[in-house]
Amino acid sequence: MDRMTTARGDFDLARFPEDPRDQLRAWDAADVYLLRHLDEREGGPVDLSGTVVVLCDRWGALVTALAARRPAHRPVQISDSFLGQQATLANLKRNGLDADAVRLRTTRDAPPDRIDVLLVRVPKSLALLEDQLHRLAPYVHEGTVVVGTGMVTEIHTSTLKVFERLLGPTRTSLAVRKARLIFCSPGPGLPRGVDPWPRSHALPADAGVVSGLTVVNHAGVFSAERLDAGTRLLLRNLPTRTGPEHVVDLGCGNGVIGLAAALANDEAEVTFIDESYQALASAEATFRANAPAGVTARFVAADGLSGFPPGTADLILNNPPFHSHRGRTDATAWRMFNGSRAALRRGGELWVVGNRHLGYHVKLRRLFGNCEVVASDPKFVVLRAVKR
Ligand SMILES: C[S@@+](CC[C@H](N)C(=O)[O-])C[C@H]1O[C@@H](n2cnc3c(N)ncnc32)[C@H](O)[C@@H]1O
Repeated sequence: MDRMTTARGDFDLARFPEDPRDQLRAWDAADVYLLRHLDEREGGPVDLSGTVVVLCDRWGALVTALAARRPAHRPVQISDSFLGQQATLANLKRNGLDADAVRLRTTRDAPPDRIDVLLVRVPKSLALLEDQLHRLAPYVHEGTVVVGTGMVTEIHTSTLKVFERLLGPTRTSLAVRKARLIFCSPGPGLPRGVDPWPRSHALPADAGVVSGLTVVNHAGVFSAERLDAGTRLLLRNLPTRTGPEHVVDLGCGNGVIGLAAALANDEAEVTFIDESYQALASAEATFRANAPAGVTARFVAADGLSGFPPGTADLILNNPPFHSHRGRTDATAWRMFNGSRAALRRGGELWVVGNRHLGYHVKLRRLFGNCEVVASDPKFVVLRAVKR
């Protein structure tokens, strides 16, 4: 946990899940710069008495600080991340605020019908920014105050062009502590065109049972433009099984792995899990477009397998994230492997694909007492561990 100091008070903030070994803060100079601007804007403080929407606030630093001002209208947070929402709830509580002090919305929910202040923490994915500004633009009016924020390394000419094209004239502030603000003045009825997301692409011919099928990708989803080479290696080497079984596509992204499991065994029941709402919407659309009738599927927003009934999964398929919310850590993969061990029944199997250099086999052997290499190429390896 760490303390964010602002002119309006200090806030104790942490990421989710909290990990004492994790030195990464839940806020940064870009959040502080934006909060300061709201009070110290040239020409007077920003009027926060209307509907304030905060897009892509990472761990809830912005909405926690805004909710602490006890505004007449509760701020609306729009997030793609289940982890980000859980962090927000925990951070509100840590700072003596009720869970309902903020209205939590996902990037897939309908936006509020009027937006008076739009604060944007520039997301890593330009596609997600484009998609979300397309969704919000109809609810922005000429008087809406739009302010973006990010570290200088996160704001590019292409970022500014998206604001300019979808909302109106855009300029940036000076950099302060390596953070920058974006000011945008919404213009009347811009010819913004249609949101290009979601997009679809056909899978290549060497992708096992899903070869040639169409996958649907919402903006910001992993490998949204083409099939990842690691995923392809797993798809080409999936287990062939029959009979009723519970399969989990863990960290499902656009759901191509879980779809393959459903096509390979039409008696399987598949649970797709991801922490990204854009990913889950993609997986559901991909599944509905291609899955055989009668296969049961569930789409669950969660932190890996936390909350999953122990000892009930027969097969877990996983291409773990390597970069986790900008942390370069394999902590998420390790949590996913631990969670898998608990979620599997005895005799159940975890299949993992990863970069060779990540050494996942060492972790799996330590946890499961066994680990076999099913397939490999110069870059990736597919591993199988059995719960004995
Ligand atoms: C490497 S991608 C794999 C996506 C997909 N399975 C594929 O192979 O194309 C990892 C996925 O894990 C998800 N993820 C990251 N952290 C997670 C967590 N704590 N719980 C659930 N999913 C998570 C990411 O959103 C991402 O979709």
